[in-house]
Amino acid sequence: MSKTEISREAIENQRRIIGRIRENHAQAGISPLAYIDTYGCQQNESDSEKLRGMLDSMGYAFTDNETDADVIVINTCAVREHAEQRVYGNVGALVHSKRNKPDQIIALCGCMVQQPRVAEKIRRSYRHVDILFGPQALWRFPEFLERSLNERGRIFSIDDEPGAIAEGLPVVRDGKVRAWLSVMYGCNNYCSYCIVPYVRGRERSRRPEVIIEEAGRLAAEGYKDITLLGQNVNSYGKDLDSKPDFSELLFRLNEIDGEFLIRFMTSHPKDAGERLFKTMSECRKVARHLHLPFQAGNDRVLRAMNRGYTKTQYLELIDTAKKYMPDIVLTSDIIVGFPGETEAEFNDTLDILEKARFDALFTFIYSKREGTPAADMPDLVPKAEKQRRFDTLLKLQNAISEEKHAAYVGKTVRVLTDGKSGDPRYPLTARTNGGRLVRLRGSIDKVGSFQNAEITDSNTWALFGELPE
Ligand code: SAH
Ligand code: SF4
Ligand code: F3S
Repeated sequence: MSKTEISREAIENQRRIIGRIRENHAQAGISPLAYIDTYGCQQNESDSEKLRGMLDSMGYAFTDNETDADVIVINTCAVREHAEQRVYGNVGALVHSKRNKPDQIIALCGCMVQQPRVAEKIRRSYRHVDILFGPQALWRFPEFLERSLNERGRIFSIDDEPGAIAEGLPVVRDGKVRAWLSVMYGCNNYCSYCIVPYVRGRERSRRPEVIIEEAGRLAAEGYKDITLLGQNVNSYGKDLDSKPDFSELLFRLNEIDGEFLIRFMTSHPKDAGERLFKTMSECRKVARHLHLPFQAGNDRVLRAMNRGYTKTQYLELIDTAKKYMPDIVLTSDIIVGFPGETEAEFNDTLDILEKARFDALFTFIYSKREGTPAADMPDLVPKAEKQRRFDTLLKLQNAISEEKHAAYVGKTVRVLTDGKSGDPRYPLTARTNGGRLVRLRGSIDKVGSFQNAEITDSNTWALFGELPE
């Protein structure tokens, strides 16, 4: 066990509670319903799969309709203001649902509610919320729910903890083809705009053995695409005594039997380097996809963001990655309108787009997060100007994405069919090895397999193709 792991007894205690709740439901002859709503990133989706696992083991079935639910869990995100506004709106609306069903238990969890000012606001103004807990307390959900079922009363748990790792709780995954696999939790980077380190606690890595065991199980169950999750996977293992590193982990995962792909996100440019790219190029199962957020292209802005690299270093990094993997698919995250960003500084971001030629981007307008250093930086750039820059950025990237996608047309590429689309013209969805979306003509019984698809068309966002008869 690592020093950040929750003790076996504590996990066993939660499992006993799960058993008790299930037993009570069985004895009363009821099959209660739960509703889970998830905001935010893959980490949160993965957390919600644990919530679903715990609820499933307690005898709950799931509904898409919150008015029917006996238990509602809203797993929140704090990364931008917009995400928080949506949660406030939707939680506010639950007053009606609870009025119709007074025994309904409403739980809020996740990053947003870990912020003391948010927890206070919920306590005061959203009195229909029964349970509130932060990401570090997720593993204690059975205990909170049992108390709420037995005693009613409100339970709020957002202690300021550095964070721990809970192994051995049930999980019910969303899909059958692609799976999330957390390798580490938390973040130590404190980028000046970002709330994540404050709400997710310190970086802590799961032991390589448990990760490899979980990946082995996923492969044996037929999962074909495993995405390793962490806020900065390149610092994986630094907190463990044996100091395994991320490349070592990739090598070991690559040796697991079966036909599947390994992806990972997110890499931080200050910690990614030649060793990682070399490893990727040597591991057949590791997808040729690198998500390497650069956030801004100007050195002053990067310094103010506390990112730890320069524009030149970033571009060199991309060159190195391309040297090892000429076919690498590159994606990135960008923030437009960081406090004080000038037009000239913004142009450096555009310059990176032109030089790196990403396949796709995730672009965001800066959102002020209370409690982060950037929130105190003077910000005189008007909203309309930020929007204009954002639109310029999008236009440039869309043209690049379109061009890069067009280059696939006429080629036959190996794809993983991962779902049904509902579009009769292209009933299948698939991903290329590099993660590009493909809409496919072909039989839906092909879902969950690797196929050679002929690419017939493309646009800014996707490729279109067909499977041979
Ligand atoms: N750990 C990952 C990403 C975490 S959050 C990384 O470092 O790359 C996902 C993305 O949200 C970030 O990459 C950033 O582009 C964006 N983001 C984070 N805080 C933001 C803020 N305050 N305003 C706008 N975008 C933000
Ligand atoms: Fe936020 Fe930076 Fe950590 Fe990513 S690396 S989660 S952007 S603080
Ligand atoms: Fe993810 Fe949002 Fe938390 S992006 S880590 S759910 S703040």
